[in-house]
Amino acid sequence: MFTPATSTPRGLAAAAGCCRRSLSVHHHHHQARPLSAAAAATATAATAPPPFPPAEPLPNAAPPLPAGTRIVLPTPDDWHLHLRDGAAMASVAPHTAMHFKRAVVMPNLSPQPVTTVAAAREYRARIGAALERAAQGVERGEEEGGGSGGVGLVALSGGASSSSPQSVAARLRAFEPLMTLYLTDATPVSEVEAAAEASAEAAAAAAAGNGGGGGGGGGGGNAPPVSIAAFKLYPAGATTNSSQGVTGDLSKALPAIRAMAKSGIPLCVHGEVTRGEVDVFDREAFFLRERLAPLLDAVPDLRVVLEHITTEDAAEFVLKHGSGGRIAATVTPQHMLLNRNALLVGGVRPHAYCLPVLKRERHRAAVLRAATLPASEGGGRFFLGTDSAPHPKHAKECACGCAGVYSAPAALALYAHAFEQAGALEDGRFAAFCSRNGAAFYRRPVNQGTVALVKKQQGSGWRVPESFEFGEGTVVPMWAGQELSWCVEEVKA
Ligand code: NCD
Ligand code: ZN
Repeated sequence: MFTPATSTPRGLAAAAGCCRRSLSVHHHHHQARPLSAAAAATATAATAPPPFPPAEPLPNAAPPLPAGTRIVLPTPDDWHLHLRDGAAMASVAPHTAMHFKRAVVMPNLSPQPVTTVAAAREYRARIGAALERAAQGVERGEEEGGGSGGVGLVALSGGASSSSPQSVAARLRAFEPLMTLYLTDATPVSEVEAAAEASAEAAAAAAAGNGGGGGGGGGGGNAPPVSIAAFKLYPAGATTNSSQGVTGDLSKALPAIRAMAKSGIPLCVHGEVTRGEVDVFDREAFFLRERLAPLLDAVPDLRVVLEHITTEDAAEFVLKHGSGGRIAATVTPQHMLLNRNALLVGGVRPHAYCLPVLKRERHRAAVLRAATLPASEGGGRFFLGTDSAPHPKHAKECACGCAGVYSAPAALALYAHAFEQAGALEDGRFAAFCSRNGAAFYRRPVNQGTVALVKKQQGSGWRVPESFEFGEGTVVPMWAGQELSWCVEEVKA
């Protein structure tokens, strides 16, 4: 049956279960659904089926690098991250802070997205406070026995040289959230100007050596400076907590978008149309034609990040329009490593469901190819953005599951896995993707610290936990239960 997507409210609380509870989809076709061979086998064995299909080498994969191979790169940044809020945020933020120095934090909080500089300042302070509490917990030794409710930082902290409580705590404290504001039809030009002003203040404070802020509880009078890295455009109804996003042809948001171009603030774009008649697998390509190309024409100085690209069309669009730093793209680990078979063959796997949804193999291959291009061929426009988007296990494993893959704990190793198979790990392309290209686009310095990854022998890599604590519940990470051969071995400040 045909259900116009635009007729359904989409902004229900992420933590409250199904993100589109009111979709009137009929489920009668489940009645006589035969078990697949794989599902039947696991059912009789009374073990849970794997949340991700067993990893096979990608088609045309380069030969694997030998165990013991070591890759060192400047400490990377995650240019697209969902941290959520409250107890859920406290559970996941440390996972990112263990491997990344900075992250662009998405504003799609529920029920109220982050639409103002004031709200972003408060959100940033909550993130800093949660990481400070985590750091203190580590210093008290709560992480050492796998305590602290299974946040599991020690497993993520690398080898002996970087897993001391002091070193882990220092990394948690050094993490720098870069905030974003959620664009709506009603975003006033004055909010864009306020964002530019706040970012300039933050940059001046950082240059004077008293940046930071965010940590502790602040207190007295002066609010700490907050850097607004970008605005985020969600087409209304496109994804989790996007109901207050921009409607229709984006014209209502045009004054604010012009103000961004004027003050040099980039616009991060969720590139999918939402019209009910457009097939979910085609929504990105439609957006490029119908919305993004006209927007770039209308606002020539605007700098855009096309987020989490999933198609050959998007990769080509960025290569075609990206000269002069106008448009760049983030790429997630799942869109490099998985195609839609991972979602749908052998049983539906809700933990591989995200938006934009995984596409067919041709598109996956094109996205990986673009992300691993050398700079001379346009590769510098693609950079690391996990789109790590945790949802409680129960909100994914249900009749109408939320979109979002939780990749943060395994992300760096998963990207290394993808780049190894593309033959692009050792010649600087991986370091550019993880640590240089995003900083260049966002006009920030490359981090001074380093991270070392080491390839382990099969059987002695890191087995990704089946789940992590997530506020009151749990979250199933990408690659749950599977071994990763790349391990973060050392992190140097
Ligand atoms: C994200 C989320 O859960 O917040 N979900 C997702 O599937 N990527 C929202 C988004 O980035 O689309
Ligand atoms: Zn996202």
